[in-house]
Amino acid sequence: MSLENLMSPIKIGNIEIPNRCAMAPMGMGNALYASDEKWPKKVIRYYEERAIGGLGLIITGFIRVHGSLASFPLVGLYDDKFIPTHAELASRVHKHGSKIFHQIALTGGKFAGEAPSSIYSPNFYNKPRALSADELEMLVNCYIEAAGRGMQAGYDGAEVHGGHLYLIGQMMSPATNKRTDKYGGSFEGRMRFITEIINGIRLKYPKYNIGVKFSAYEELEDGIDLELGKKIAKYISDLGVDYLHVSTESSTLEVMSKLAPVPPMYLPRNTLVPLTAEIKKLCPDQVVMATGSITVPQEADDFIREGKCDMVVLGRTILADAKWAKNAKENKTITPCIRCNLCYYQLWLSEPLCCSMNPYLLHETEQELPIPAKIKNVMVVGAGPAGIRCALTASKRGHKVKLYEKLPYIGGMIYPGSRPDFKIDVSRAIDYFKKELSDSNVETVLSTEVTPEMVEKLNPDVLVVAIGAKPIMPQIPGINSPKVISAIDALRDISSYKKGKAVVIGGGDVGCEAACYLADNGFDVSIVEILPELLQENPNLNLKLPLLSLIEEKNVKVYTKTTPNKVTDEGLEVILPNGKEGGIEADLIAVAINQRPESLLIKDLTLKAEEFYVIGDCSSVGRIKDAVTEGERIGRWI
Ligand SMILES: Cc1cc2nc3c(=O)[nH]c(=O)nc-3n(C[C@H](O)[C@H](O)[C@H](O)COP(=O)(O)O)c2cc1C
Ligand code: SF4
Repeated sequence: MSLENLMSPIKIGNIEIPNRCAMAPMGMGNALYASDEKWPKKVIRYYEERAIGGLGLIITGFIRVHGSLASFPLVGLYDDKFIPTHAELASRVHKHGSKIFHQIALTGGKFAGEAPSSIYSPNFYNKPRALSADELEMLVNCYIEAAGRGMQAGYDGAEVHGGHLYLIGQMMSPATNKRTDKYGGSFEGRMRFITEIINGIRLKYPKYNIGVKFSAYEELEDGIDLELGKKIAKYISDLGVDYLHVSTESSTLEVMSKLAPVPPMYLPRNTLVPLTAEIKKLCPDQVVMATGSITVPQEADDFIREGKCDMVVLGRTILADAKWAKNAKENKTITPCIRCNLCYYQLWLSEPLCCSMNPYLLHETEQELPIPAKIKNVMVVGAGPAGIRCALTASKRGHKVKLYEKLPYIGGMIYPGSRPDFKIDVSRAIDYFKKELSDSNVETVLSTEVTPEMVEKLNPDVLVVAIGAKPIMPQIPGINSPKVISAIDALRDISSYKKGKAVVIGGGDVGCEAACYLADNGFDVSIVEILPELLQENPNLNLKLPLLSLIEEKNVKVYTKTTPNKVTDEGLEVILPNGKEGGIEADLIAVAINQRPESLLIKDLTLKAEEFYVIGDCSSVGRIKDAVTEGERIGRWI
């Protein structure tokens, strides 16, 4: 793997960045920030870890430039009293050779009460008050002063946040700026606010570097379309900024754009690269940064080599692996981001970020593994994410670990979860676990079902049971028909089933993904869901909306408020929403209702060991994050 483009230095303004890998600005979840609006210690440590991880540039998360207007408490830079906390962050990052820009922003009408215009839009969660021209002039000054304080603190530059329909983005978007004064009414009017900010910083702090993040596309009625996005890019570039950071906006409650700014696993990788490439063509002398699900080093290198962008901005991938850049450079294993968007969901809940793949996110100081008092023989049963993580960690600490799996492959529930084409990032997680196991001292034994007798005979010092959970089948007549399988089995291997009509019972995540998978494999698919909506119990719109779009694109027929009643020779008999009986033809019925731990087997296994732990789905059915975190915790504990 040659990463010479990605790893080559680049100049931004008057500084040299050691490589082309930048960390995306990311808020940490409001619950983490204290009322003093300083960088919390653990956030400084989190950034430092990413500098150690070899990133050329770190762009901080959102920092507000006014103490009350158009924003809510985060980290502040609207007063000199904040300079020391920023100075501490900048110096801690510089110590490891990375450069750091601070992002300056105000939320405007998106989450606060003031905006360019007093209109309700799907992106404003309330009807904001329109800011007066005097207030906007005052806010221009706040951005300029915040940049000055950033410079004093020792940052290398300011990134002006003009995207994601925050205040500057709202000023630039025809969807949200309906003003008729000098700050609206025309393209130039809508661009006046950012122009005054950039010109003001340039004039007052001529040596300070300025980047701009902006939305080159908005999935919104009257929003920024692709043509306007390019016009904005060229205009901002011509203002003489030091880089353009190309993003988009898509946060209505009904649709998720194919050009979403934080693309989840149901959308392809490298989502915004083509759009960024067009902007790079328009502004060939400008440093242009691409973002949006860039996760694979070689792909990132290719984009730079092909002239599509000059730098890549990596968000979630750096949450999953703080050392992504260093590992890429040294050709070491990268912990992949599976784009499950749990971290992003945490942000919307205002909770501290956490990661499915990285249990040490925001716990960077706790990574050192404790030396065990005694080396033990550890038998881990079940090679899903909980079992693997536990085995790897226990082994790293020096224990002698054997990992057993009854199937001929590892992965547990993430194996079926990785099967649809659109879950390619989850299959990368399986490759990652495979590589980690093969590089470790863990002895992995596949195709071996562990029995209580085996445990008794092998007599390990510690038994870890991580056998996952079993699908629950509805107790309806005909359920034992050979045409009925679990959706998990359907996802595991559909090759032995003749293509035809398929019905999926259950419209949760697994059911919807299985339906898409069956459709991709040539089946004519229907979903039967008892609740009024598919994915009703999944509150994370960031995942729900694109999965619903896939269901639609793949022509899956949807029967909601419909109860499965009986499996017949023809298919599935159901009770329709009107209470009447109906029938859906099916050659195959895949059940995705729920799962439960196999309590009896767990009990029989654990009875044979003195020290034992039951972890992952067989303790309590949960997410990958729960399995990985628990596996790590027990791996450290043994
Ligand atoms: C948890 C989280 C917090 C974010 N906070 C910000 C932010 O404060 N400012 C910003 O411009 N973008 C923010 N973003 C968007 C990212 O900067 C980036 O544009 C996006 O995640 C795409 O990059 P990725 O696909 O590599 O994650 C955030 C994204 C995530 C996942
Ligand atoms: S929580 Fe999911 S999307 Fe976020 S960084 Fe971790 S693996 Fe990636």
